[in-house]
Formats: sequence, C-alpha cells, structure tokens
Amino acid sequence: LPALPLAGKHVLVTAGPTHEPIDPVRYIANRSSGKQGYAIAAAALAAGARVTLVSGPVALLPPPGVKLVPVQTAREMLEAVRTALPADIAIFAAAVADWRVADAGAQKIKKGAEGTPDFALVENPDILATIARDKARRPSLVVGFAAETEHVVEHAKAKLARKGCDLIVANDVSPESGVMGGDRNRVHLVSASGIETWPDMDKEAVARALVSRFGELASA
Ligand code: C5P
Repeated sequence: LPALPLAGKHVLVTAGPTHEPIDPVRYIANRSSGKQGYAIAAAALAAGARVTLVSGPVALLPPPGVKLVPVQTAREMLEAVRTALPADIAIFAAAVADWRVADAGAQKIKKGAEGTPDFALVENPDILATIARDKARRPSLVVGFAAETEHVVEHAKAKLARKGCDLIVANDVSPESGVMGGDRNRVHLVSASGIETWPDMDKEAVARALVSRFGELASA
C-alpha cells in the first residue's frame, strides 16, 4: 500500500449545519456537530490529499492544513463548493437545512401586536445532487451521507438513486443511537455494488476507514 494513498488528490468536504436566517437574531438549523465531516477532512489530509473544508457554523477547530471556507447558509455553501471545484473526491457530510424563510426580515420580529409570525418557506438547493449531476465538473467520486431515524438502509438506497452520487454513508441518528453530537458512529455503505455494515467505531476511526475506501474507489 502507498504511504500516502491520496497524494496529489483534491478532496472537498462539506460539514456542519447550515443556518438559515429568520431575522437578524434567529435562524433555522439542523442538529449537527460537524464532528464526522471534520474527522474525514483530517483523515484525508493525513492520507496526503489537499483538502477544502466548506463548513457551516460549528464549535470545532479546523484540522491544521485544510483550507477552511466558513459559510452560514445553504446557498453560500453551494457557492463555496462550486468555487472549490475541480475536486477528485467530494464528500457531502453537511446537514444542510432543507428550507429557508422566503423573505428573512432585516429587522428583529417583535412579539405582540402582529400575532404569531407566519413564515413562508422555500426549498434550498440540494448541493450534493447539483454537483453529482454537473456533467462538466463532477468529481470522479461523489459521496453523500444519510442521517435517518428509521429504515436507514432503505432510505439510503432511494437517496443514492435520487441524488446521483456513487456512495451513500448511512447512519442511524435516532436519539437512542447517541450519534448526534456523540463521538461514535455505526455506518452502512450503500452503493451500486451493494450494502456493507461496519461495526460501531469512534468517528475518527470511521473517518480513516472511509477515506481509505474512498481512495480505492477513486483510483478504481
Ligand atoms: O436529502 P437528505 O438531506 O436526506 O440527503 C443527505 C445528503 O445530501 C447529505 O450528503 C447532505 O450533505 C446532502 N445535502 C446537500 N444539500 C441539501 C440537502 C442535503 O448537499 N440541500
């Protein structure tokens, strides 16, 4: 095995939640610590890759040596991903908010006279699907994540087809699993060649094992 299996490769990772403003002081977000994505960025760097980490707001320090591109919203994340291309491998580990408020106000919404605010939501761009279907600039390996609370593998299979990616890393994030915000993860790899279930490992070990698999798939 080569000592640095990803030497000469550019790996793009999205991580963390996005924050979609409601007004200047409130936002819609997902419950994502960014730990798994940051661990993947660190493992890709250790494997010799040049790494761009496009990250929503998290309480983590970027692994020294990665190029961090901090963003807040899904639209900013898509823009930052496009700017970072071309990449050999793209790993979409971010928990992107599916919707944003149609017209986020420039002023804080005040309680009271107007009654309860009524928000119209609009769908955010799907960053993974957009890049996976970009004929001109699609990275040779595109990996998505599926965080589910039930029917994990079934949903992952559907997602693989819908998004047009090469591999889905699926995990159970039901409250009982302790995965959300926790340090451990148990993943299923779902691709055209089948389903593989890995044992429970800490997120760093999951990241190293994933990165070594990505290296094999990208050079296959
Ligand atoms: O659609 P869903 O959120 O279930 O799919 C999860 C996968 O899609 C993850 O890899 C996530 O990073 C990606 N995604 C994205 N942009 C979105 C929604 C999800 O890149 N707007």
